[in-house]
Amino acid sequence: MDNIAKDIERVLLSEEEIAARVAEISADITRDYGGKNPLLISVLRGSFIFMADLVRSLPIECTLDFMAVSSYGKKSATTGAVKITKDLDLDIEGRHVIIVEDILDSGLTLSFMMELMSAKRPASIRLCTLLDKPARRQKPIQADYVGFEVPDEFVVGYGLDYADKYRNLPYIGVLKPCIYCKE
Ligand code: PRP
Ligand code: MN
Ligand code: MG
Repeated sequence: MDNIAKDIERVLLSEEEIAARVAEISADITRDYGGKNPLLISVLRGSFIFMADLVRSLPIECTLDFMAVSSYGKKSATTGAVKITKDLDLDIEGRHVIIVEDILDSGLTLSFMMELMSAKRPASIRLCTLLDKPARRQKPIQADYVGFEVPDEFVVGYGLDYADKYRNLPYIGVLKPCIYCKE
């Protein structure tokens, strides 16, 4: 049988730990945005599971949109060039925007998103990321809502991939280094 869990060295964050933290972040967002109809923008593809869990635990009125950008391709390190593969459908001018990401790593993706979004004149912008890996930062950027700080190891699952694989793992795990050592 082909079981993707065999490529995982160890579980970093279990399903239960993630669910508990997502509920806390959603409580923070509820407190900060109740009555403001925030526009949550999910950065595809990595954030799709986090976005789905987060918005299902938000009791307030909110609007959702999706944008797809990619910079890692099939490699374990950023290529440095961020490419838009799907743009927003909604107008964000005057809206309270929350950008939802799975991981803030080098910061290139979120700096790019921030620049792009600011130019569209929203009322406010905040960043919400499930994972933060400050050790790899190349751009001085910080998120307003952070789920967990993670060590400098290659993590997959709960939306995060390596070469488009492992997104469907229900937990976040550290990938065995031998999986990408031949790059
Ligand atoms: C990954 C991840 C974040 C970004 C973080 O996306 O989902 O969006 O990289 O890295 P950075 O801070 O170094 O920019 P990726 O480009 O792999 O696309 P994907 O979401 O489709 O997997
Ligand atoms: Mn991504
Ligand atoms: Mg990726």
